[in-house]
Amino acid sequence: MKLLVVGSGGREHALAWRLAQSQAVQLVYVAPGNGGTAREPGLQNLPITDLDELAEFVTREKIAFTVVGPEAPLAAGIVDHFRSKSLKIFGPTRLAARLESSKDFAKAFMSRHGIPTARYQTFADAAQAHAYVDTEGAPIVIKADGLAAGKGVVVAQTLAEAHAAIDAMLLDNRMGDAGARVVIEEFLEGEEASFIVMVDGRNILPLASSQDHKRLRDGDTGPNTGGMGAYSPAPVVTPEIHARVMREIIRPTVEAMAAEGTPYTGFLYAGLMIDAQGKPRTLEFNCRLGDPETQPIMMRIRSDFMRVFEHAIAGTLDRAEIDWDRRCALGVVLAAAHYPDDPRKGDAIAGLPAQSNDLGDDCMAFHAGTAARDGQILTSGGRVLCVAALGDSVRTAQARAYRAIEKLAFDGMQFRRDIGYRALARSNRP
Ligand code: AMP
Ligand code: GLY
Repeated sequence: MKLLVVGSGGREHALAWRLAQSQAVQLVYVAPGNGGTAREPGLQNLPITDLDELAEFVTREKIAFTVVGPEAPLAAGIVDHFRSKSLKIFGPTRLAARLESSKDFAKAFMSRHGIPTARYQTFADAAQAHAYVDTEGAPIVIKADGLAAGKGVVVAQTLAEAHAAIDAMLLDNRMGDAGARVVIEEFLEGEEASFIVMVDGRNILPLASSQDHKRLRDGDTGPNTGGMGAYSPAPVVTPEIHARVMREIIRPTVEAMAAEGTPYTGFLYAGLMIDAQGKPRTLEFNCRLGDPETQPIMMRIRSDFMRVFEHAIAGTLDRAEIDWDRRCALGVVLAAAHYPDDPRKGDAIAGLPAQSNDLGDDCMAFHAGTAARDGQILTSGGRVLCVAALGDSVRTAQARAYRAIEKLAFDGMQFRRDIGYRALARSNRP
């Protein structure tokens, strides 16, 4: 059979790579794909992004099913569109995707259903937002309501920063429509984790836990990014906390979405803050897999992942299971010069193997912002590569990933040297 993965990032490369390993899969199209998916065995790039054209292609080529990577096509209704043409697709409908596409929707939904999250209020009026921040004090968190590609959240340490963020979003219109309303919420302390599950409307299949590193520089300093590295599993998610997240957050969310007439299908990603007492709260929902969390997660899947999607699309996820590699996987993102503000494009990447993305030694180079030109791979976006490795411990996986990175180079290459540090600190504790 042939499959289609929609998207062009490292997440889609990893997902399509894993799907292509299924015995039953002949070819996985990636639309539009990147420089790495272009040369990955079993994958083929498809230069189409228009929804109608994609649906026509899927019909004509008899694609068995489609999996959607990024949030934008989901929020634009790709799932509704494909289903109206009886095409099989895994992802949430436009209405269900509001859990990510509108922070105000997500917060109101959580308070309606008693799902633990930070206290908040939503404002369209700047004067009222300023007054609210003055009564609440700092630190405080200001979020653009709509999709802002990971740039819509300001964790303000001071009142001055909070006021500036409100003005930037509500008055200067710096986020466009996404910032026409802001959610202002209580600052939560604790350790973050990414908790991603597959949902078929009713049944839930959790993926392995993971942890992202959102800041640009070592020690979680510098500006927020889309994510500079990740590993799986995340030891902060103990079996007790896992059970609590399922009971207090994931199951109530899936049940309430169904009860409200917008049953949830697709990947559901809860960004968690876990406090010192082990209580998880939801910082955000995403209606998709995380990037770069997906890259280490895919490294650990040993089962035929295509079969899991068949169950998810048929509504029989209760009969699916995933066999996880017991080892740890860790991925380090290599970002372009001047990422995240103004990433430079067109730098040649040296050191990649000529024909594949397999770096040997249980190590993969998943591509994101790359393009192939004249036999060369060039940078073409902010996050360029994610080098992911497996190892018996976090330390081994980390050492392998960094050893592989030593062979790669491009002008202005930026990466963190401490991916996995929280897990290492835990394993060093007596
Ligand atoms: P979000 O896109 O909502 O996940 O926010 C991006 C990042 O901002 C999160 O990964 C957290 O590091 C931080 N953040 C968001 N909301 C809060 C909060 N209520 N308290 C503390 N940090 C937060
Ligand atoms: N790595 C965070 C995200 O995908 O939203």
